[in-house]
Amino acid sequence: MRRFLEKVVIVLAILQIVHASWWYLGVSSSYQSLVEEIKHLPGRKKCSNLAFLAPRQQELCSLEDKIIEVIHEGASMGIEECQYQFQTRRWNCSTFNTTNVFGQILKIKSRETSYIYAILSAGIMYSVTRACAKGDLGHCGCDTKVRQITTDGGFEWGGCSDNIRYGSKFSKDFVDSKEMRLNADGLMNVWNNGAGRKTVKEELDLICKCHGVSGSCSVKICWRKMKTFRAIGTALKNRFDGASLVKMDKRKKRLKRLSRLQKRPTKKDLVYLQESPDFCEHNLEFGSLGTRGRQCNKTSYGLDGCRLMCCGRGYYTLVKEEKDDCDCKFYWCCRVECKKCTNVKELHYCN
Ligand SMILES: *[C@@H]1O[C@H](CO)[C@@H](O)[C@H](O)[C@H]1NC(C)=O
Ligand SMILES: *[C@@H]1O[C@H](CO)[C@@H](O)[C@H](O)[C@H]1NC(C)=O
Ligand SMILES: *[C@@H]1O[C@H](CO)[C@@H](O)[C@H](O)[C@H]1NC(C)=O
Repeated sequence: MRRFLEKVVIVLAILQIVHASWWYLGVSSSYQSLVEEIKHLPGRKKCSNLAFLAPRQQELCSLEDKIIEVIHEGASMGIEECQYQFQTRRWNCSTFNTTNVFGQILKIKSRETSYIYAILSAGIMYSVTRACAKGDLGHCGCDTKVRQITTDGGFEWGGCSDNIRYGSKFSKDFVDSKEMRLNADGLMNVWNNGAGRKTVKEELDLICKCHGVSGSCSVKICWRKMKTFRAIGTALKNRFDGASLVKMDKRKKRLKRLSRLQKRPTKKDLVYLQESPDFCEHNLEFGSLGTRGRQCNKTSYGLDGCRLMCCGRGYYTLVKEEKDDCDCKFYWCCRVECKKCTNVKELHYCN
């Protein structure tokens, strides 16, 4: 009996580890209290106290003092971007105060789960790359290899190019180290982590500055810079819409499309193993808050429209009065006077 109980405890502990995630560092309130807890520990020991990190993640987190803050920034950027991109959908990327952050939605290997993995992996790559360029991290700086790329005389490399190679390597090492690639779930997570990083790599800008006499552009100096994180979140949202349903090829230990009629997913695409639930009702068993009380758009036929958002339950309307400035006049000199107008706004909410 005792042996049996010990086994149960061990299995429960393993389940706990599988569900806990470094994403927890992205929740600002938790991050603040964790930092308080570990700040008195010596450098190498700091991160080994964070039980929700995998062993390799604890190692990387201990590399230098600042890295934990950079990981926090990356994870919270990922969480915020997910909530921005999904704000008008039934599932709105809601988070919970648990070490897996997103709750039971992760149990379903759906498109939603694929987006979570991709945007958080992209977030780490982004924040590490940015910290490298700012000189905040000891192990990396600007990308100097970019200067070997020929520009055919159109411009010269200069300034500080973002070191996405280092950012990508760190993100892969840190993020993927938690995954077991032997089963379908692990393969899916690793694939989507990679898709997130590929998207950052793709969304690069060339920024240029002209130097020369009186506005001429005799010398053009350029460097590579990542686009805004919003651009990356939007690009991944488009991949979410076109995500590919896949299954495990048990013989070859890899993912493959369901049928030959489907397009073959590329490494940039998001992949998923299960269809999503409809998220209409409150059901925490799979992380659904339901859509009761959610705001909807009466005139939209899209997912934000009341018909789809409220799942056919109908909606109620609240009238809100807002006082705004209007009829503003400019008096010489220098005074602006406005009238106050009352705007009546109708807001709609799901039953
Ligand atoms: C989250 O949970 C932790 C530990 O359970 C607690 O200390 C903290 O206050 C909670 N934060 C919020 C915002 O509820
Ligand atoms: C998501 O929806 C829930 C209700 O279903 C709401 O309480 C919450 O504020 C929404 N979150 C965001 C980030 O919009
Ligand atoms: C509601 O949907 C319509 C049609 O798609 C759009 O033009 C409008 O801006 C939306 N309103 C809000 C408040 O989002």
